[in-house]
Amino acid sequence: MKKILLFLFSTLLINMASAQKLSEDMFIENLLKQMTLEEKVGQLNQYSGNWKATGPNKVSANNVQEIEKGHIGSMLNVFGADVTRALQEHAMKSRLKIPLLFAQDVIHGFRVTLPVPLAEAASWDLTAIEKSARIAATEASAAGIHWTFAPMVDIARDPRWGRVVEGAGEDTYLGSQIAKARVKGFQGEGIGHTNSVVACAKHFAAYGAAMAGRDYNTVDISRRSLWETYLPPFKAALDAGVGTFMTSFNDLNGIPSTGNRYLLHDILRDKWHFKGVVVSDWGAIRELVPHGLCKDDKDAALKAINAGCDIDMESNCYNRYLADLVKAKAVSEETLDNAVRNVLRLKYKLGLFDDPFKFSNAEREKRELANPDHKKSAKEIAEKSIVLLKNDHETLPLSAKQKNIALIGPLVKSKADMKGPWAIQWDTDDDLISFYEGMEARIPQKTSLLYAKGCDINTTDKSGFDEAVETAAKADITIMVMGESFEMSGEARSKTDISLPGVQEELIKKIKSLGKPVVVVLMAGRPMTFSWTAEHADAILYTWWLGSEAGNAIANVLYGDYNPSGKLPITFPRSVGQIPIFYNAKNTGRPTPDENKISYGSAYIDSPNSPQYAFGYGLSYTSFKYSDLKLSSNQMLPSETLRVSCVISNTGKKKGEETVQLYIRDMYASATRPVKELKGFQKVDLAPGQSTTVNFIIDKETLSFYNQDMKWGVEPGTFKIMIGGASNNTPLEAQFDVI
Ligand code: BGC
Repeated sequence: MKKILLFLFSTLLINMASAQKLSEDMFIENLLKQMTLEEKVGQLNQYSGNWKATGPNKVSANNVQEIEKGHIGSMLNVFGADVTRALQEHAMKSRLKIPLLFAQDVIHGFRVTLPVPLAEAASWDLTAIEKSARIAATEASAAGIHWTFAPMVDIARDPRWGRVVEGAGEDTYLGSQIAKARVKGFQGEGIGHTNSVVACAKHFAAYGAAMAGRDYNTVDISRRSLWETYLPPFKAALDAGVGTFMTSFNDLNGIPSTGNRYLLHDILRDKWHFKGVVVSDWGAIRELVPHGLCKDDKDAALKAINAGCDIDMESNCYNRYLADLVKAKAVSEETLDNAVRNVLRLKYKLGLFDDPFKFSNAEREKRELANPDHKKSAKEIAEKSIVLLKNDHETLPLSAKQKNIALIGPLVKSKADMKGPWAIQWDTDDDLISFYEGMEARIPQKTSLLYAKGCDINTTDKSGFDEAVETAAKADITIMVMGESFEMSGEARSKTDISLPGVQEELIKKIKSLGKPVVVVLMAGRPMTFSWTAEHADAILYTWWLGSEAGNAIANVLYGDYNPSGKLPITFPRSVGQIPIFYNAKNTGRPTPDENKISYGSAYIDSPNSPQYAFGYGLSYTSFKYSDLKLSSNQMLPSETLRVSCVISNTGKKKGEETVQLYIRDMYASATRPVKELKGFQKVDLAPGQSTTVNFIIDKETLSFYNQDMKWGVEPGTFKIMIGGASNNTPLEAQFDVI
């Protein structure tokens, strides 16, 4: 009986699902039949509003006319319940009343600014990261936004590249987990829910491998590294249900991504069965001309649509040439229709055909943008993103013992820089908590703060040094708050020198020469080089840019209200000359320890090979011990699983969180494998003296790779397992064989 009921129930579900599908398909086909060629092209045409303008001025009168003709399918940089409602009303005047889509780069928060993505990646906390995207989605969708151009899932191994700030760092495994968490966070209960936004996996693909870290530069990488390193986070985003993909600006092995059919069609559609929308990056279709792939803009439109790029963002190429190309049969009607179907399907899934104004609700906007819970969560996520790089002689946490604290540096009172490069509502500086304000609110009653700016972020002016030294001389301890300004990382912000800008490190030397303890708080959107500081400062906190609650979060960590738990998601080089440097490199035929002499090993004669700080590294105010590594067997068949367990103990005096990292190494294979690959991690929260057992499962997927013939699978052989608290600190090691 039970079985019969189950059968009937599942048949009913299947029928309901296909009925829904049928009505979606029927609706779209029916609409498509009524559309003129120009209206179809219009759906593929995306324009930007004027993001600096407010209210209705965000969109030109000309664009309004185009909307009413059905010649614009989507817009970016227009938001706000009222603005989007007004524009949607214009769309409702068009012949077929096809609603507009509103897109926006909601990268790290909307009204409440959350930590920059690289900072959040340092939390290794997938729940927190998902929550952060959820908050951003709740606010953005309340402001009429349907679609965010995030997450950026580009793996980035070159800190000269300014856009490292927008991603999850250098590692494919961590990056894939974070990609999933962000997609889930943005899309929430699913596309169509009023508090979800459609996510966009960008930039497809391998944009992070830009040569020499120069933005928009050529990418020339092996197929192996494309498939092993750069594509998996996109696949992870897709598996998490991402609704859209964005092409990348770069040339990939000779074919710029926006005109690259191998990427957009063979991989994305044929192999991965992606059914959503592909949007070009800003102006990227037009850029196929300077790339040298296309003769002119018309040729660019032809190559992009035939490669599989559905929407033209701001190139004006589809708008001008696509109809002619279809008439001339250079582009088939089927190709055009398929691209239009993708766009209409997204609008259908969003529920915009039923209610085009469903996201433009001024009351909800007001409520969500003032939601106090968002700020509270922003502070918690910011605390988790901070990495303690050094803490000699237990300089930190601070306590009531330090009666006079000197705060020195150009970022002590800055608000704007806390925002990072993609803060959307630029007029909200007043709400941001500066470091100074955070400290003022947190210091114990009898503690005084002394302040001197000392220097600018990026000038050679040392006139403030004397005042800074005098200020520090009066204090028990000095906290120096330094780094980059927010415009120094991000798009088009590549650098050849990633050291602490200007004379900031010189000022640290001066203050340190007083012989009193110096804590350095570093803020930036990328890893910087600061080897003198790394050696001489008493304590270093790397805080990135933490958003609205930056000051409160940093003060809480400095006082130990929150015990730092962040781990670096990207390697910190000693010098720019070591770049590219990342933890999962190959062993080479001449593996060499950290020597700097001529040894005919793979080494430098003027620098160690090792980085300043390794991937996965980060300290706590407590200490952890790793012990009792156990493997369920020392052999496994590819069809079996292996259980790995170990014990983590808090051996210090404070409650703390540790990120337990599992790495593997395939010792020999038909293609060489990295010396370490992250394959799992877990966060444990332990009271002093407390221990816990952590379990990992190793299966075929964990051990698979692209073999010599580029086939995915596992090969018999010896594998090493390494577990620890950083990629360069794995006290537990064992081996097993796949037979
Ligand atoms: C960036 C994208 C962004 C787009 C729209 C481009 O310049 O590369 O990441 O989504 O602009 O603002």
